[in-house]
Amino acid sequence: MKNHKAFAAIAPGLERVLHAELAELGVTGDVEPGGVAFEATSKNLALVHRNSRLAGRVTVELGGTKARSLEEVARGARALPWKDFVVPGQPIEVKIITEGHQHRFAATFSKKIELAISDSLRGPRLPGPRPPREPFRVQCVIEDEKAKLRVDASGDLLHRRGWRLATAKAPLRENLAAAVLLAVGWTPDEPLVDPMCGSGTFAIEAAGMAMGHAPGTRGKFGFLTWPSFDKRAWTALDKKPISRGQAPIVAADRDAGAIRATRENADRAQVTKRISIVESDVRNLEAPADHGLVVANPPWGDRIERREPAWRSLGDAMHGKFSGWGLAVLSPDRSFLADIKMQLEPVLTFPSGGTRITLYASER
Ligand SMILES: C[S@@+](CC[C@H](N)C(=O)[O-])C[C@H]1O[C@@H](n2cnc3c(N)ncnc32)[C@H](O)[C@@H]1O
Repeated sequence: MKNHKAFAAIAPGLERVLHAELAELGVTGDVEPGGVAFEATSKNLALVHRNSRLAGRVTVELGGTKARSLEEVARGARALPWKDFVVPGQPIEVKIITEGHQHRFAATFSKKIELAISDSLRGPRLPGPRPPREPFRVQCVIEDEKAKLRVDASGDLLHRRGWRLATAKAPLRENLAAAVLLAVGWTPDEPLVDPMCGSGTFAIEAAGMAMGHAPGTRGKFGFLTWPSFDKRAWTALDKKPISRGQAPIVAADRDAGAIRATRENADRAQVTKRISIVESDVRNLEAPADHGLVVANPPWGDRIERREPAWRSLGDAMHGKFSGWGLAVLSPDRSFLADIKMQLEPVLTFPSGGTRITLYASER
């Protein structure tokens, strides 16, 4: 796997947080719109898939070609080093991506590229393992009569860690919840409370960090079947988790269904022993320490229910049992913050579930 560029994608607005996380993992990269570019070595791909909580998907760019005609794209595609990435006999899926509009001939283009890839793999069939059943996924990005071909290194989206089968209302993606925690500088030696936990995403991600769990252990990643991938880079990461902090982590919600979902999810994520899960209205919730971070994703008006009571109750708690604690809160609009009556500054803005939301935080 030589001289290829990999790209780890994340929701726009969170690129710098991902960049810092990858640097911490030992992967140096460059911030680009929508993600971070880094060198596609076996070691880097293994590190990002095993240990990044933030990356949403990783692709590797194979090369570009002029795309004034279908024949030109096919010719360009045939010349790329597919043998390094796909096993003959593996099903191939090509997705055509065009800026802002549906490509008129997307189905024809993808079939043609698929055939071009199969053509380039022809040759004597060497004995070896059976071809993987999972499709080899290719993206063809067409823009200004040029096409870029990328291969999908991840397979399923990376935020799907496998534990969140139960959801409450309006859940936040696991990688976005982790990004919020890193963006406000939370570390596992600081007490953390999510008083409106829904399906428990913040607390479960936080507990995973505190217990030193690797987020990417499901092992079905696309790159693991690439002939050019050095498997030792993956097995070298098989290490026992090391605990990184003992401070309490609390997930609370007033809704019994949300508490049930949080318990089931925490069990699947194997973090139950590290989280206190409490069914309580935020107004009655006890603080587990005299300082720490409250992180909350309260309901936003018409999305779930009338917003006023939840925000006012959160504000009351911050001035009552949680006075002295910091707050990080997600909101699509500054006007929601009025009920909290704290000095909160915008940290970053990103899209989630079709809404642009801003992370506001108090100074800590
Ligand atoms: C948008 S959801 C949180 C979603 C969560 N971040 C997730 O990823 O699943 C908001 C939650 O606030 C809870 N809630 C609303 N008012 C509350 C209150 N006064 N006390 C405690 N929980 C409350 C709701 O039951 C709901 O589960």
